[in-house]
Amino acid sequence: MASGKMKLGEKLLFGGFALIGILAFIGWLVLENVRKHLDKPMYPVLEYNFSVEGMHGSELFRTSGCTICHRAMRNGTNMGLVLDGIGSKRSLDYLNKFLINPEASYFGGTTMDHGPAKGAAFVAKLPPADLRAIAAFLSELRANPGSNASRLPPAGGESGFIDEMVRMWAPDSWKSEHKDIREEMKLKAKEGRHDAGSK
Ligand code: HEC
Repeated sequence: MASGKMKLGEKLLFGGFALIGILAFIGWLVLENVRKHLDKPMYPVLEYNFSVEGMHGSELFRTSGCTICHRAMRNGTNMGLVLDGIGSKRSLDYLNKFLINPEASYFGGTTMDHGPAKGAAFVAKLPPADLRAIAAFLSELRANPGSNASRLPPAGGESGFIDEMVRMWAPDSWKSEHKDIREEMKLKAKEGRHDAGSK
């Protein structure tokens, strides 16, 4: 390098780095350009389609102290449970019961924060009308099937990828101890019933 000229290897090395940088930059430009011209979000995870009561509930959710521990729709913290998509996991009935009487509703398990003399004890004491509105809001936080906030597989249910992952990674005990929700969905579809969890 004393002569100030780069050797061939150095040229290739730095040229390679520069090329990677340039390609990444072009990729980013294309992505941003595509994103700007979409009329929908690129990765829709949640659907916001609130009723009047749900809208009211979303306000109460933000003003009643829930966001100290929870996050939903980009409000709040990750300290407790992220509630995005909870409407696809829990029914309105369950949410109503949980907010008023958490420990009795929590599948026999003990709660960490919800319940008398715990951090979120105040929740059950909120005015019943407020709790109903909050429950409506939460039940409307539905996740698109197949997204990371949903327990439901992608629409259609058939996924070679999921089959393969289950085959490769799930321990044998897991298969006998748990039900595959897709089997349940297929059964329900056959019976012509509408699954409460899906849309
Ligand atoms: C002090 C922290 C804290 C506060 C405040 C709090 N939560 Fe929670 N929440 C939790 C934790 C932790 C859980 C998990 C269950 C448990 O262990 O209590 C939970 C669970 C939940 C669940 C899920 C229940 C289930 O079975 O899936 C809902 C719904 C919920 N909270 C709603 C609310 C609402 C609405 C508010 C505000 C009115 C609120 N929470 C305030 C900590 C909190």
